[in-house]
Amino acid sequence: MRWRVQPVFPRPLLSRLSAMLAVRTGLHFPEERWGDLEKGIAAAAPVFGMPDAPSCARWLLDTSLTRDQIGVLASHLIVGETYFFRDERCFEILEQHVLPERLQARADVPRPLRVWSAGCCTGEEPYSIAMLVDRLLPHGVQCGATILATDINPAFLRKAAQGVYGEWSFRTTPAWLRERYFAPAKNSRFEIRQPIRQRVRFSCLNLADDSYPSPANDTDAMDVIFCRNVLMYLTAAQAKKVVEKLRRALVDGGWLIVGPAETSISLFARFAPVEFAGAVFYRKIARTPLPAAALPPQPPAADAAPAIARRMAPPDPDRAQAQAGEAAACGKIAGEALLRMARACANRGKLAEAAQWCEKAVAADRLDPASQYLLATIRLEQGQSDAAVQSLLRTLYLDPDFVLAHFALGSVCLSQSRHREAQRHFDNALTLLRAHPYDEPLPESERLTAGRLAQIIGSLRASLPRTATGAQQEQA
Ligand SMILES: C[S@@+](CC[C@H](N)C(=O)[O-])C[C@H]1O[C@@H](n2cnc3c(N)ncnc32)[C@H](O)[C@@H]1O
Repeated sequence: MRWRVQPVFPRPLLSRLSAMLAVRTGLHFPEERWGDLEKGIAAAAPVFGMPDAPSCARWLLDTSLTRDQIGVLASHLIVGETYFFRDERCFEILEQHVLPERLQARADVPRPLRVWSAGCCTGEEPYSIAMLVDRLLPHGVQCGATILATDINPAFLRKAAQGVYGEWSFRTTPAWLRERYFAPAKNSRFEIRQPIRQRVRFSCLNLADDSYPSPANDTDAMDVIFCRNVLMYLTAAQAKKVVEKLRRALVDGGWLIVGPAETSISLFARFAPVEFAGAVFYRKIARTPLPAAALPPQPPAADAAPAIARRMAPPDPDRAQAQAGEAAACGKIAGEALLRMARACANRGKLAEAAQWCEKAVAADRLDPASQYLLATIRLEQGQSDAAVQSLLRTLYLDPDFVLAHFALGSVCLSQSRHREAQRHFDNALTLLRAHPYDEPLPESERLTAGRLAQIIGSLRASLPRTATGAQQEQA
């Protein structure tokens, strides 16, 4: 049985303190927790320069507290409990469903994914998200995703920004993740590596305030919001208000992720619950009933308009050029992630799904010959040779030296008995292959070497009727 700390403050004082805290921080201190409340105030008293706990309590009630003072008070009332990849299933779903869906939804509007960890504590949660994003978008281009991490407690945020952690923060983290993303630090601790640290921006934000969503503190137009194991500490009325503000902070179709003990039908009534094995996530219902992949750019909400305007309508040519470069880089990252999904489906024989992912990859990065080529090979597998030829021609338009596209075109022509054309494509491939060392694996070929492909083409050419080799004229 757990012993409760018995309060000694007068009951009216505790009641007023609890009401003040509910309004200013959202924190819920019902009567059975008044002992904890007293203890927290006793611990905060010296920090506020108060001689004892009761005087501190009275001073807190008589003062109009600043944001910093609220933060200090909160730091003595909340125990920060967190660790890397807490609730692993949640991160699996994020990696396998939520982020690919968001990338797909943004394929036509290339701009960074926006993720917010609200109530981030000492940083383990947002850094876990950053590591996962790094695995999904491994090219380190900064615009791939932005991760905002906020908390009411400035002491937690300072520790988070330092990024140095002890063994206990890794209690469920696989060893390889620690090796890859951390460097050993003093006193058997581990320091997060710079590329991951750089992806996360920490800032102080009290969820009970009305300062969000707003472009002023970058809390608008979020794709994904983590607010895990925070709502459970808030009063029912504040939890309801916070959830509504978080809903407004999401783009249409965006995701809210709460702790496993925080799921609720009534609290998230304005969201669409999405059930996964072992977890329920909440999606902001789109105002326009379009499929996620076809979502238009976020219609600007009243308070989000300036930020969206800033992103969508650059005011001067220099900024326009910078934004065009950023959009292209983001499109490239999104394209690569979508292409990985396409390959994964194709490898499992799910050709229709693979073709859909590939079409998205093509739309995200129209200059990438690899996605055109993969689409061509999928169309060939599906028996759609006309569509395959179109994609192969586009591949060569983007990269005339794409050996495998010449080879594939030759093979299609051969299968259709268009021997002279097959000969021409094979010859092009052989000419290009001469520039490659014999043992060099060819790009997009799953380790087929230049030498081996030259042998294959050699024997295919040998099988062509002599007419095709120019000895006689081929009949069209
Ligand atoms: C138990 S921790 C959860 C940390 C992390 N989200 C996780 O699930 O591992 C709760 C966090 O919520 C923060 N918090 C509590 N009330 C808050 C408020 N009103 N505004 C912002 N953060 C708050 C606390 O400071 C603490 O860091």
